[in-house]
Amino acid sequence: MDIASRPAEPVENTQIADAAPPPQAPPVIHREDYLPPAWLIPQVLLDFRLGVDATHVVSTLSVTRNPEGNGTSTLRLNGDQIAPLAVRVDGREVNDWRLDGPDLLVELTGEAHSVEVETAVNPAANSQLMGLYASNGMLCTQCEAEGFRRITFFPDRPDVLSTYSVKMRGDKAQFPVLLANGNCTATGEGEDGTHWAEWHDPWPKPSYLFALVAGDLVANHDTFTTMGGRKVDLNIWVRPGDEDRTQHAMDSLINSMKWDEEAFGREYDLDLFNIVAVSDFNMGAMENKGLNVFNTRYVLADPETATDADYDAVEGVIGHEYFHNWSGNRVTCRDWFQLSLKEGFTVLRDQMFSADMGSAAVKRIEDVRVLRIAQFPEDSGPLAHPIRPDSYQEISNFYTATVYNKGAEVIRMMRTMAGPERFRAGTDLYFARHDGEAATCEDFVKAIEDGAGLDLTQFRLWYSQAGTPQLTVELDHDGARTTLTLTQAVPATPGQPEKQPVPIPLRIALYDRDTGAHSGEQLVVLDKDTGSFTFDGFAKPPVLSINRGFSAPVAIDFARANEDLVFLAAHDDDPFARYEAMQGLVVQYLVAGVSGRLDDAARTEGRAAIGAAFAAVIDDPELDDLMRGELMILPAETYLAEQLLVADPGAIHAEREALKAWLGSECGEGLKALHDRAAAVPYGRDAAARGARKIKTQALTLIAAGDPAEGARRALAQYRAADTMTDRQGALMVLASLDAPERAEALADFHQRYTGNALVIDKWFSLQGSAFHPEVLEHIKALAGHGDFTMTNPNRVRALYMAAASNPVAFHDEGGEGYRMIGELIRKLDPVNPQTAARFVPVLGRWRRIEPVRAALMRAELERIAAVPTLSRDVREQVTKSLG
Ligand code: ARG
Ligand code: ZN
Repeated sequence: MDIASRPAEPVENTQIADAAPPPQAPPVIHREDYLPPAWLIPQVLLDFRLGVDATHVVSTLSVTRNPEGNGTSTLRLNGDQIAPLAVRVDGREVNDWRLDGPDLLVELTGEAHSVEVETAVNPAANSQLMGLYASNGMLCTQCEAEGFRRITFFPDRPDVLSTYSVKMRGDKAQFPVLLANGNCTATGEGEDGTHWAEWHDPWPKPSYLFALVAGDLVANHDTFTTMGGRKVDLNIWVRPGDEDRTQHAMDSLINSMKWDEEAFGREYDLDLFNIVAVSDFNMGAMENKGLNVFNTRYVLADPETATDADYDAVEGVIGHEYFHNWSGNRVTCRDWFQLSLKEGFTVLRDQMFSADMGSAAVKRIEDVRVLRIAQFPEDSGPLAHPIRPDSYQEISNFYTATVYNKGAEVIRMMRTMAGPERFRAGTDLYFARHDGEAATCEDFVKAIEDGAGLDLTQFRLWYSQAGTPQLTVELDHDGARTTLTLTQAVPATPGQPEKQPVPIPLRIALYDRDTGAHSGEQLVVLDKDTGSFTFDGFAKPPVLSINRGFSAPVAIDFARANEDLVFLAAHDDDPFARYEAMQGLVVQYLVAGVSGRLDDAARTEGRAAIGAAFAAVIDDPELDDLMRGELMILPAETYLAEQLLVADPGAIHAEREALKAWLGSECGEGLKALHDRAAAVPYGRDAAARGARKIKTQALTLIAAGDPAEGARRALAQYRAADTMTDRQGALMVLASLDAPERAEALADFHQRYTGNALVIDKWFSLQGSAFHPEVLEHIKALAGHGDFTMTNPNRVRALYMAAASNPVAFHDEGGEGYRMIGELIRKLDPVNPQTAARFVPVLGRWRRIEPVRAALMRAELERIAAVPTLSRDVREQVTKSLG
């Protein structure tokens, strides 16, 4: 489709537009405006009197003038929804402090002072889950990015590094366990059933890495001896009753510690490492120094309640947070614009770790799939931003797939260009140079440049330009000479109309059609708008395998014959390229189908090619099942939508479902045989058993698409025979989309079987929210009124509504019911938890790329949200940009 067929301007909803007062635009923070802090805080002493409804905090700051600061006498201490109960300077109560909005300003006359501030907070009332909050009767903190200022007044910016000493007192029965960063230095009993603990963290850190936990917890304990001989105590703290589900997390932690020593030379630096699992958490987990706080879903796992994918997620997130100890804590960020410095690098590190722990090929495919589903749409929409943003209103909105996942891809490209050894020399230099500092992305690039011996001058554009580069590929064959012509275009994004070409490192191989082999992989780097590369020695036009291993995060436009894709899908020796060929075959077919470019002959030919490739995948004895499972995954509907300037989600869904049904019957016998073979493999955690479970549900999904009755029968049998959550959830997922009698039976059984297990009940909500069932919207509405649903638990909200928002049948309902549902959710959730509410805005923000009727409905929903005068900064920013 053409850009000219953009959706028309939607009809204005005057009722709403007229009623709303002009909303207050939050201030915009610019990267260019960075100034060093005027005052430094070398030491912090925090004294907590803990209570679920009222916690009293006395904070004593040693304050010294920063020689690099602007010399002001005003000390600015950030606050957020707190009030100073008392302010003392050098031990004497002062009353000439002022408030500037939420911040506390104190005048200081000398070079160094002690500043003491008292505050009180109500953790039970903290539904935002930022700062100090209560979760199931325990107290815990989340300070990144700007939560510390909700506990006490402080220069809450990552370039102010302090050593923290923490004392906490609380009721011993209510809070038997008292934890903070670093080491426990003293404990004791107090009066009236209280007890206390003192903690000291010797490593200077920014306030966002502060953490405190108090509650009734039990630990899985183990030890790890570092390469330098330090014996580290490891604890994974959970609520009593959950301890039997912590062993995988512990194994993952030990593996992470060992892996970081071997892969990056990074050793742990305290005698204690604590992880605490909490069930109310906005994100995945948090890398607080020596005291990681985790969402329970990334800690708890056993075969009965966690899928194989859950196991992988636990391993990946445990690794991620552990790796932050160096990439994030020892070297932290100068300001939040540098977030990708720690997040992009740490995602790359956790990806490499998971690749080494399991199948590297499968891990790479999974990572690219996430990038394409989550990051590509971001990069082509109204919220597009570079991995190092230039401005923001609310930093929580920038914990994005771009900063995290594209950030990881950008560093991965440096590694590809340098090779592993030189890249390691670069990271060694980075850690040596910046240990103990608050660094910038530029510092990182410079260290890799110097340490790896690369010239990254032009490469820095990857940090400053948003948008996924579009690469057009042409392959010409003339006599014995083959010419590869590459053309790149980085699309315009909000605020960045003009783009420069970026260096694009592409691993390529050319297959000889006669021998079926290639003569070695090469790395070509396209650093101009257009470049040509020539190759000799092919009698016939070779088959090009390009962007092997997904060496560059780009979108490729390369029209090729089905025959070439079938060849690569069956023979490419790069597993990612093999997957890519399979995807390409299906994407080409489906995109042609929804664009009305498939006549009967082309449809028949396309299906035949896909069917043959699928049959080959099902039968290939050389493939392991984990990889076979990857090759059987059809491209996601959001990724298909990305291929079109303006997408019709209904048409995409119908075309993709039709292909599934065709494949299900065309390959029916092979799929049933596969399902039977997989069902016979006994339980194990090894790759073969995991692979069997993966293809079991893959096969089941396609069988059900081709023959719903047979699918329902097999799904119920799989459900009943299941000895793992992987099999049980897989079967239930298939049933949830079927209009079959088995559906209700299995759903009721599942709920009853797992009542009381929050993470599994989340699955129950999520499966129904994601179902391709004709009445899915009614189901979701009913679920929102279910006794187990609550707006105050982010996992539960995401389970139901993220499922709904990512389900094309529900979200893109023709009448706009799905958009209204998500719009209403955002308006209801915003006063409770703005950070989580804001996460639902981007799906509506895709309206420009959706056909006009739906686009108008989506836009109207955004306007309805924008009209709410009391909107949070989080949602306000996302909605304004999405409408803009
Ligand atoms: N640093 C954490 C991580 O790596 C994310 C914490 C983000 N928290 C937030 N409130 N935005 O995964
Ligand atoms: Zn992180």
